[in-house]
Amino acid sequence: MELEKVGVAGCGLMGHGIAQASAEAGYEVVVSEVSQEALDKGIGKIEKQLAKGVEKGKVDQADADAVLGRIQGTLDTGDFADCDLVIEAVTEDLPTKLELWKELDGIVKEDACFATNTSSLPVAEQAAATGRPGRFLGLHFFNPVQRMPLLEVIEADDTETGTMEVGVGFGESLGKTVVETKDKPGFIVNRLLVPYLLDGIRGYEEGIGSVEEIDIAMKAGAGHPMGPLTLCDVVGLDTLASIAGVMYEAFGESRFEAPATLQKLVADGHYGVKSGRGFYDYSGDAPVAVDPGS
Ligand code: CAA
Repeated sequence: MELEKVGVAGCGLMGHGIAQASAEAGYEVVVSEVSQEALDKGIGKIEKQLAKGVEKGKVDQADADAVLGRIQGTLDTGDFADCDLVIEAVTEDLPTKLELWKELDGIVKEDACFATNTSSLPVAEQAAATGRPGRFLGLHFFNPVQRMPLLEVIEADDTETGTMEVGVGFGESLGKTVVETKDKPGFIVNRLLVPYLLDGIRGYEEGIGSVEEIDIAMKAGAGHPMGPLTLCDVVGLDTLASIAGVMYEAFGESRFEAPATLQKLVADGHYGVKSGRGFYDYSGDAPVAVDPGS
């Protein structure tokens, strides 16, 4: 199947990156949000990234303009009707995703493929909410989408071989390193990464180091590009808590349970980079570690 037009539902942390990466690969993109404010914020992030690219001499102004010209922002899901592939990147909440898929199934042309960018929720359950489970798969991107090379392509029980081929081809056309995997909670990366991040928080709670010391140690001692607590903030503490909840329910193992500090930060509305505060405060020029208990 030849893909020309890609729909992205959600223009938040992941959605704006997926929309940008798709437009950079030459696709016509329609990206939706639930409010004009959220849409403007997401499109604004894409404009900022493109302007940075021009400033650094990585892309010329005409190409950046062309990328932006291929992205149509909308508040109307009706604009997805003629998309060949629709990827959802809405809140990590199953009822929200199921409601969206039911709506889109009645709008988008029948031969289009649907993909969820879920981090941990079952792909099969979402596929079953549509009349096209054979053309439904998982496409799991990593944050920041514009930079991270990996795309997990997830096969659910009913995903047809041709649909997996569409997903793999799409990922390769975006220049991603594609790994095919199965519909198991957390897939490959989060199965390994989430317990590590949660252990970073538990270590902090147990006093093995300060927020900064834990991050410095893993960067200098294990060669990671960022420490675990910074990475928690980048992933989004609300998203991390919700992934932990799904994985704890699935595996019943304490290593997947959200630590008290994570639960408190989320309850206090501190979601990390996206809300301006998590394990660090992002209101100044450089992030400053804060006591998560305060
Ligand atoms: N959006 C877009 N581009 C970004 C960006 C962002 N938020 N942050 C950084 N970049 C770009 C910069 O513009 C820069 O681009 P150029 O090379 O073209 O100039 C490039 O990334 C490098 O940036 P920096 O030099 O400022 O910083 P860095 O070298 O430390 O790299 C990083 C930044 C790529 C984010 C790196 O720190 C890293 O790889 N961190 C780990 C990120 C990670 O593990 N992500 C996965 C999270 S898990 C997930 O997403 C899945 C899930 O389901 C939870």
